[in-house]
Amino acid sequence: MSFEPRIIAFLCNWCSYGAADMAGTSRVQYPSNVRIIRFMCSGRIDPNFVVEAFLRGADGVMMTGCHIGDCHYIDGNYKTVHRYEFLSHYLDVLGIGSERLKLAWCSAAEGNKFASEVKEFTDLIRGLGPSPMRGDDDE
Ligand code: FES
Repeated sequence: MSFEPRIIAFLCNWCSYGAADMAGTSRVQYPSNVRIIRFMCSGRIDPNFVVEAFLRGADGVMMTGCHIGDCHYIDGNYKTVHRYEFLSHYLDVLGIGSERLKLAWCSAAEGNKFASEVKEFTDLIRGLGPSPMRGDDDE
């Protein structure tokens, strides 16, 4: 049986969710492995949410938001960068692996970019295999 990754993508409402919506309305294909959770700003993505996603069986997590300088709450995505750097280190310490966490910026007009980021990450996680946090009953 082939492995299909479970990917959780945290999107900000104003840019990256708009990009996902743009991909959908433009009929740009991207893997259905991704499950989207929308926040008003990527700065709202608490590090605990990322860890919780892995504890609940995610194989990969994406943190996405507006490009630097475009955050609708001015500096929310700067917080996201700091949290991403902290989480990358923390995931290595936990043995999950920092490569299972991706940070990507997409404007609302970048549906194609969003789709290619999802595809690239899904391919990477498929190559890595299941997360070491996955339990036997998580098949
Ligand atoms: Fe998009 Fe802050 S509103 S990152």
